[in-house]
Amino acid sequence: MTAARVVDAVKTYGTGDARVRALDGVTVGFPGGRFTAIMGPSGSGKSTLMHCAAGLDTLTSGTAWIGDTELGALGDRQLTLLRRQRVGFVFQSFNLLPTLTVAENITLPQDLAGTGTDREWVDALIDVVGLGDRLRHRPSELSGGQQQRVAVARALAGRPEVVFADEPTGNLDSRSGEEVLRLLGRAVHDMGRTVVMVTHDPVAAAHADEVVFLADGRLVDTMADPTAEKVLDRMKAFDSSRDTGRGTAPRQRVTS
Ligand SMILES: Nc1ncnc2c1ncn2[C@@H]1O[C@H](COP(=O)(O)OP(=O)(O)OP(=O)(O)O)[C@@H](O)[C@H]1O
Ligand SMILES: [Mg+2]
Repeated sequence: MTAARVVDAVKTYGTGDARVRALDGVTVGFPGGRFTAIMGPSGSGKSTLMHCAAGLDTLTSGTAWIGDTELGALGDRQLTLLRRQRVGFVFQSFNLLPTLTVAENITLPQDLAGTGTDREWVDALIDVVGLGDRLRHRPSELSGGQQQRVAVARALAGRPEVVFADEPTGNLDSRSGEEVLRLLGRAVHDMGRTVVMVTHDPVAAAHADEVVFLADGRLVDTMADPTAEKVLDRMKAFDSSRDTGRGTAPRQRVTS
């Protein structure tokens, strides 16, 4: 089962000389019950792919699907509902509401939608993220890693078909980052969820079941059962193919 996919996805920004082809004909599926990482040099189109696959942005041409639903066929209202009910998001900046408590932040999407929360599921989630003793705190009273764990719980609270995470460890030290990655891994492997994560970090990508590599808006490779070492080697190959003028060249060198 494919939880989310794009077919022949093209996304251009701007016009004339300023025109950028951020996605240049990408076809990729994200299987349900799996943890997929999206990697590639800065500017290669990772965030654009994620945003278009998640219904946060629209494609210039091609199609994007969540399950059997084609996003381009939906009106604004239906798209809003789909994002609320079928998709979860985690961003680099945790995006918690400062005036709400941890508990209120976690159930905010369901409270806004008026759909009610599945208390048993949310309690299990709170247990997994390990913030049971922080539920009445405000985000400003938490560390960055704790805030991001709240954001992960919020993304999972409505049992979405797929959670999209754009550099969820980008603002965290390596230990907090590791906790968030383990949490995303547990969501997939213990709780049957589907996660698609954009990352620059080979160590983060190694938590995934599969890595897909973008360069210059194109899908250039996939890797099953990644290790940090294998991913790092693959990233270095991008650099050397650029240096020798062969292969698909990234716009910018990857320094990690
Ligand atoms: N709103 C926008 N308007 C114009 N160009 C954009 C816009 N968003 C992205 N781009 C361009 O599209 C290309 C892909 O951007 P994108 O943000 O998807 O890259 P990325 O792989 O996520 O990079 P990073 O690793 O730096 O986050 C880049 O050349 C970028 O400058
Ligand atoms: Mg990005």
